[in-house]
Amino acid sequence: MLPCPQCSFPIPGDSRTCPNCGVDLALLALLAERSYLAGIPKTAPLPETPDAFVPRIGEYLIEKELLTEDQLQAALARQKELAGKGERLLLGQTLVKMGLVSRETIDQTITSQIIELHAALQEANRTLEARVSERTAELKRAMNRLTELNQLKTNLISNVSHELRTPLAHIKGYVELLEEEELGDLTLEQGKAMSVIGRATVRLGHLIEDLIAFSTASREGIELKLEAISIAEMAREIIDRSKAKATQEGVKLRLSVGKGISPVQADPEKLNWVIYQLLDNAIKFTPEGGRIKLWAEQVNGFVTIAVTDTGIGIPADKLDEVFEPFHQLDGSPTRRYAGTGLGLALVKQIVEAHGSKIIAESMKSKGSTFRFELPVRDDEIET
Ligand SMILES: Nc1ncnc2c1ncn2[C@@H]1O[C@H](COP(=O)(O)OP(=O)(O)O)[C@@H](O)[C@H]1O
Ligand SMILES: [Mg+2]
Repeated sequence: MLPCPQCSFPIPGDSRTCPNCGVDLALLALLAERSYLAGIPKTAPLPETPDAFVPRIGEYLIEKELLTEDQLQAALARQKELAGKGERLLLGQTLVKMGLVSRETIDQTITSQIIELHAALQEANRTLEARVSERTAELKRAMNRLTELNQLKTNLISNVSHELRTPLAHIKGYVELLEEEELGDLTLEQGKAMSVIGRATVRLGHLIEDLIAFSTASREGIELKLEAISIAEMAREIIDRSKAKATQEGVKLRLSVGKGISPVQADPEKLNWVIYQLLDNAIKFTPEGGRIKLWAEQVNGFVTIAVTDTGIGIPADKLDEVFEPFHQLDGSPTRRYAGTGLGLALVKQIVEAHGSKIIAESMKSKGSTFRFELPVRDDEIET
């Protein structure tokens, strides 16, 4: 006995309805046949689809020697003829009408077909499941491989950056000596050239420090030294440090930290770095005449820290990308903006290490806001 396709109750071979759920087996078969006829092109059956495992009713009756090939052809011709007159019959109905097969035989055949179809469906499901787990395993292997490759990349970056530190320290030392004319007087031209070299080495130093910070964080994770921090004080210091750059770029800086913001719980050095990066980006990606605001506000035990600019903005579909390491929206060799594309990747890691989330909101050509929340220190929360 085979299970009913609807309720799985075992049904005797000659049943017309399921003794348990009462479903009309012939009707189910009819629906199955219709969908089979509608869905599967006869010339190219897909072996994966269960219908393909079950022969059509005519072929089935021939196989069981209940019908001959000639009789089937005659019935098909009759079916076509009737259809031409507007009377649409299924093949089974035509066979009964022509007296070639009894109604009982047709019913039994249909029931067997349903059951076979059901078995085929189960088989197809099993194949599908096997394929899914195969694909999952493949994806897992690819993922592991990528993780390995990423690790190799991080190691390489880390090694190279450390190797660059030493020669750069020598260059810096000598540039300072030359600039201060400790090694002899310089002409005006030479003095200018030395200060260009000096600024370039400082920038190179920052890039190397970013690379080292990023690779260390990727390999070892981020270790936090949490303390109570006054956002107002930290923000003021960062604004002071960024003023020269803002003036040089022709943008206005504004600080807006609400009165009475409570101290937050964070790692001071890392938080300072994060805010500085956000402000640095805002200055860098805001054209002359633009405005930048570093602001903070406190709502229910959380302080939001944010940088808003009126700069070039980021297209909505790129908002996630900017947090990926080495990702810069203008990655062309002739790009206008300096940087490694590591700032935001590290910002994200640090903010997340604090249990928070960095959120970017932006409109192309209008400006951007980068913000995150930090909890107020426990002992500051009013009870
Ligand atoms: N305030 C901003 N306005 C517009 N684009 C920004 C802003 N901040 C970041 N971006 C985009 O995100 C990219 C990644 O930023 P970041 O990781 O800090 O790298 P970098 O500053 O070295 O280019 C930038 O190159 C830029 O395309
Ligand atoms: Mg940056």
